Amino acid sequence: MARIKVRNWQIGRDMYYPYEEVRPERQFAAIFDINKCIACQTCTMACKQTWTTGKGQEFMFWNNVESKPYGFYPLAWDVKLLELLGPQKWEGKKYAGKTIFEAAPKGSVTQGYLPEEEDYSYPNVGEDEPYGEVKNGDYITLPHRVWHFYLPRICNHCTYPACLAACPRKAIYKRPEDGIVLVDQSRCRGYKECIRACPYKKVFFNRTTKISEKCIGCYPLVEKGEQTQCIRTCIGRIRLNGWIHTPDKADPSNPIDYLVHIKKVALPLFPQFGLEPNVYYIPPIHVPIPYLKQLFGPGVEDAIKVYRNAHNDVTLLGVLTLFGSTEFWVSRFSVKNGVATGYDAKGKSLVSVPIKEPVYIRPFYDEKLDVYRHNIT
Ligand code: SF4
Ligand code: SF4
Ligand code: SF4
Ligand code: F3S
Repeated sequence: MARIKVRNWQIGRDMYYPYEEVRPERQFAAIFDINKCIACQTCTMACKQTWTTGKGQEFMFWNNVESKPYGFYPLAWDVKLLELLGPQKWEGKKYAGKTIFEAAPKGSVTQGYLPEEEDYSYPNVGEDEPYGEVKNGDYITLPHRVWHFYLPRICNHCTYPACLAACPRKAIYKRPEDGIVLVDQSRCRGYKECIRACPYKKVFFNRTTKISEKCIGCYPLVEKGEQTQCIRTCIGRIRLNGWIHTPDKADPSNPIDYLVHIKKVALPLFPQFGLEPNVYYIPPIHVPIPYLKQLFGPGVEDAIKVYRNAHNDVTLLGVLTLFGSTEFWVSRFSVKNGVATGYDAKGKSLVSVPIKEPVYIRPFYDEKLDVYRHNIT
């Protein structure tokens, strides 16, 4: 297998990948604010209803939401790979360990494993199960001593997809126009190397058709300038779709670049695996830092500081207000006079949201109508 040097900005160094560095014209990205997810699974069902109601897709959740630390889908997907990789370390913002490509056993493209069929049978395992025990007289600290959080996951439409690299049939491709990663259903022969290689386990085997399927980034919507099903339907308004640039080309008026590169408040999931995933997470502020560092890398403490200070940062607050505010794709934003506005790629205004909602307090006794009114909100 070829070993070609490519740049991975998320790990602060070059790394080896079987193909040359080819970046799409625009890269699909998303940000999920974990602090706001309530595990309602609306996203999961929106995806399921739209794309995976067919035969052989019964157990498939291209979007899933798992409770950490004990939730997984498929079972133990992350701990199994972390065990195979063994202890690895960061030196400051540079990853000094091995990516899954660099740790590949001889003859393989990546370090990885193939889940058992049964591993897909418990998508809600560990739901709401906290780490730790509430003791008599306990009080709340930050980070919490007893904690859990919800981790929503879709395919990361990685810059260096392991699924694509591992397929001997070259049946997986990354679209040049938007960076969405797709399985060519007519080329796939069901070799499952993609499933073994994807560290996020986001390629699924269809037992009826005997070929693989995965999240398609809702490309028919993206092509129309709309956000994906799982993103636009999110009840908690935790999600935002957009385009991401590399840090040297970061555009401060692009909401994704602003949150990832300028404020550095949104971080990739397991950047140390080396795929440069394109779904970013605002880490939960109540969870112990060592656990979060393993998941999101060394930027966690700074990200939490920035997020906790959002009430003093009107631009940051403005971008966060745009999450879940429109079904359209927000390419640019502005914040002026307490109002956040999202624009499409041509500069057309899509949505305007006040950062602070006005509050009206009604008098307890309405003289005109001679009625009493309780203020309940
Ligand atoms: Fe979380 Fe939003 Fe999905 Fe509900 S719809 S589980 S809030 S990501
Ligand atoms: Fe492929 Fe997995 Fe990356 Fe998605 S998350 S592009 S399935 S390697
Ligand atoms: Fe499903 Fe579309 Fe979300 Fe992918 S982007 S998980 S296909 S709803
Ligand atoms: Fe290739 Fe995966 Fe199909 S390895 S042949 S895309 S099952």
